[in-house]
Amino acid sequence: MLTFAEISALTEKTVATVDLRNEPKELYDPIHYIFSIGGKRIRPKLCLTCYNLFADRFDEHILRPAMALEIFHAFTLIHDDIMDKADRRRGHLTVHKKWCDNIAILSGDVMSIKAYEYLAAAPKDCLPQVLALFNRTAAQVCEGQQYDMNFEDLPIISIEEYTQMIALKTAVLLACSAKMGALIAGCDAQTADALYRWGYDLGLAFQITDDYLDSFGDPKTFGKNIGGDITNNKKSWLLIESLRIASPEDRQEIEKIMALGEANAAEKIERMLAMYRKLNIHTNAREAIVHYYDSAMAALQEAELNTDQIKLLDQFAQNLIKREK
Ligand code: IPE
Ligand code: IPE
Ligand code: MG
Ligand code: MG
Ligand code: MG
Repeated sequence: MLTFAEISALTEKTVATVDLRNEPKELYDPIHYIFSIGGKRIRPKLCLTCYNLFADRFDEHILRPAMALEIFHAFTLIHDDIMDKADRRRGHLTVHKKWCDNIAILSGDVMSIKAYEYLAAAPKDCLPQVLALFNRTAAQVCEGQQYDMNFEDLPIISIEEYTQMIALKTAVLLACSAKMGALIAGCDAQTADALYRWGYDLGLAFQITDDYLDSFGDPKTFGKNIGGDITNNKKSWLLIESLRIASPEDRQEIEKIMALGEANAAEKIERMLAMYRKLNIHTNAREAIVHYYDSAMAALQEAELNTDQIKLLDQFAQNLIKREK
């Protein structure tokens, strides 16, 4: 079994071989760009890690599907940045800012097709299962993204609605990545499903961390502009929890802040951050993240795994929830 560092190195090496440059360059250059400016490559790493629990032949049957996950993810980022009006990603300009919306839309479209091309390299015997898993996941990501946008216009949503939304937009792709690696390695259905649940809960922890970093991350390390969720009235974990624990006066202040428009973005961000600090939201967010980490690890009890395998997955999970970017 490879170590965590070795899986990371293999992932980076393989990502570097993905060259989708072609003509017309306006269509393909943004793909090269989004790949070349970094990213944590969590999804292919998850896929390769779970594969490596049961198999150790790293040929195109696993490497290309692993890359499909990163290509698909990068496509969702390019479109997400249009929807979220975001100007920075991975420490650089977003694709729609560097080029324009139309180019970002079309490059994203072709990336989603390329993702299928890479996915098709999965072993013949498990390809139908891999495709079904990926198709369901890809549609769910779109559903989650739509809920995310719908919620911008609502004054408040429940924590259950929030959890369902982040499960769809984020957690299912991590879950799919973990399960896909296991399926391609030929592992039993019960263990593959346990790994799906592990990835899913980890995905929830991952998105709450993302919400936290959107307000409190260091912009240099995080690579995105801070406060975008606040400006857009995103129903982030921080906002929902703040509304839950706020006194009637604090709640009024939050509602006033949310009524501020984009023209007052700087003031809006500053006042909301002050409220989050006042409510000590950091502590609650951390608790929620650890809660999902714990339930992710508990899901592995249903899997046929030895101590070394669990240790590797635990290392992965801990790394994911300690992230600052
Ligand atoms: C960002 O994903 C979108 C979310 C689901 C939070 P990542 O945090 O994995 O972004 P990169 O790929 O490392 O840039
Ligand atoms: C995005 O969630 C999830 C997907 C891209 C599908 P966010 O909108 O929070 O992701 P970031 O913060 O822009 O990376
Ligand atoms: Mg978004
Ligand atoms: Mg976004
Ligand atoms: Mg975010």
